[in-house]
Amino acid sequence: CGIVGYIGKNDTTKFLLDGLKELEYRGYDSAGIALLNCDKIDVFKAIGKLDNLKNKIDSAKLSPSYDIGIGHTRWATHGKPTELNAHPHLGEYSYVVHNGIIENYKELKDELIAKGHNFVSQTDTEVIVHLFESYNNEFENCEEAFKTTISRLEGAFSILLISKAAPEKIFFFKHGSPLIIAKGNEDGEVLFASSDAPLIGLANDVVYLEDGVGGIASSNEIVFLNDNYSWSTLPTSKQFAQKDGFRFFMEKEIYEQSDVVSDCMLGRLKDEEILFDEIDKSLIDGINEIKICACGTSYHAGLTSSYLFERLAKVKCNVEIASEFRYKEPLLTKDTLFIVISQSGETADTLEALKMAKNAGLKSLVICNVDNSSMTRTANNTILTRAGIEKGVASTKAFSTQTVVLWMLALYFAKAKNVISKEKLQSEIHALREVPKSLKVLDKVHEKARRLSKRYLHGHGFFFIGRDVFFPLALEGALKLKEISYLHAEGYPAGEMKHGPIALADPELFTIALMPENLLYDKIKSNVEELSARDSTICAISPLDFELADDFIKTCKTDHYMLEFFEMLVVLQLLSMEISIRLGNDVDMPRNLAKSVTVE
Ligand code: G6P
Repeated sequence: CGIVGYIGKNDTTKFLLDGLKELEYRGYDSAGIALLNCDKIDVFKAIGKLDNLKNKIDSAKLSPSYDIGIGHTRWATHGKPTELNAHPHLGEYSYVVHNGIIENYKELKDELIAKGHNFVSQTDTEVIVHLFESYNNEFENCEEAFKTTISRLEGAFSILLISKAAPEKIFFFKHGSPLIIAKGNEDGEVLFASSDAPLIGLANDVVYLEDGVGGIASSNEIVFLNDNYSWSTLPTSKQFAQKDGFRFFMEKEIYEQSDVVSDCMLGRLKDEEILFDEIDKSLIDGINEIKICACGTSYHAGLTSSYLFERLAKVKCNVEIASEFRYKEPLLTKDTLFIVISQSGETADTLEALKMAKNAGLKSLVICNVDNSSMTRTANNTILTRAGIEKGVASTKAFSTQTVVLWMLALYFAKAKNVISKEKLQSEIHALREVPKSLKVLDKVHEKARRLSKRYLHGHGFFFIGRDVFFPLALEGALKLKEISYLHAEGYPAGEMKHGPIALADPELFTIALMPENLLYDKIKSNVEELSARDSTICAISPLDFELADDFIKTCKTDHYMLEFFEMLVVLQLLSMEISIRLGNDVDMPRNLAKSVTVE
């Protein structure tokens, strides 16, 4: 989602619409703005692309000057993309825009309904504005009401709130999702946006708000609720700003993974259970087998999860490439749960596989990043991965969120089937909570990948090898390299190398070995030794020193193989990106590929 806000004497509507245009790539299910002029608030909302909102505003032929406004472009998480669910959300006399997810919205909503508040949307956001008004009615003090509101919210929330009760002010707060406040170039102008791009050229001094920081802004002053803030200077290049300072969208998306998996887990992870409110509670009842279909990177997420479904949920699971599945005249039985995985929700082969399963009367579930896509509209059940828009053609954050959802789903089914002990479930949930940390890009790891990349620009091929879940990870590492460097790479199960591919081994064959400490370390070590003995150049990725490695990328010590999995994923993504950059390729738009393939 994207947020903008404006205080000042210039054209408020124009700033809001231009700003939303800059942020539109972050979500375009719906958009809306609220404009405040003394005791009058005008609101416009429209579903779909921003142009729909703009047309509505143009035809309203607004003449009054508004001194304050807030706007939002939405990527649906709670509630369908309808006008009612579009932001800004209204109480009796205030409006709010919000990025993030209020985890405790259900209990707050019940409490407010009991007090007589009337809700019109299905969103979690609406509780914020009602809570604010409830406290303001009680205290008759907007500042206290805002502070108390914030103290009641759990989850992620970056907020702008305006109210007729304080018509010259915008109340703001940042927790989780990004928010920036800026002093505009004109006197008394205050601007807000959830990323730099809408502010470029209109302001110099900005505060990139830290979590837990908020305040109250008017044209006279900006009052922060605590001291944890500092002013800095805005960059001047727009392209740079949209990429948040990164060289490529792929790089930005690699760095975003830690945050988006946190969003993905919000509200779904409790101390002793996993919650998926959005799916049918009896989904696993009567099911003896899971069949997964997907393409590309999503297929690798599916393959990874097949180990987890069998190991944790004790349910048979097989995974197929959608384009193969379609024409093999598959035998489908009703005791099979059919899962498709897709970032876009539009891939033609995967969509067709889903339709086939539905026609055969199977229960279906789509794990998808785009709500309201063809697949989410077709399947009986949907789990959204909440990765935000992915722009790089080489998929990164979609894969990490898909894998996290599938891991959570394996545990969800394990609990429903009563095949997991309380202790085991707790320790898995504990590990899940550590995933954002494992996905954080460490400077030293990025620097190492950058340095090593120059040694891997030639050779006759790469083998990425791993065992168990590290085999699909090896496939994904090889795919990333192929996609953006155009070098030949293969992912292989480490134990299978001796049955053929080892014949290729020589110093010009590069082996990228995934050597986790917590899963089959001794087995993979023997496989790598076999390759080293045949003079293959070895790049080992492991938390344990490995003396036979020609190159070595050290990962952190953890106590769960899935945490090693995510850490190694980041290493593989960075390595292929740095190799691609050195080769002078277009990282974000590699030749011959498309982000979403809607043809067979
Ligand atoms: C295209 C993209 C891949 C992606 C695949 C499946 O080939 O280039 O990066 O993994 O489609 O896409 P989906 O949207 O279904 O996950």
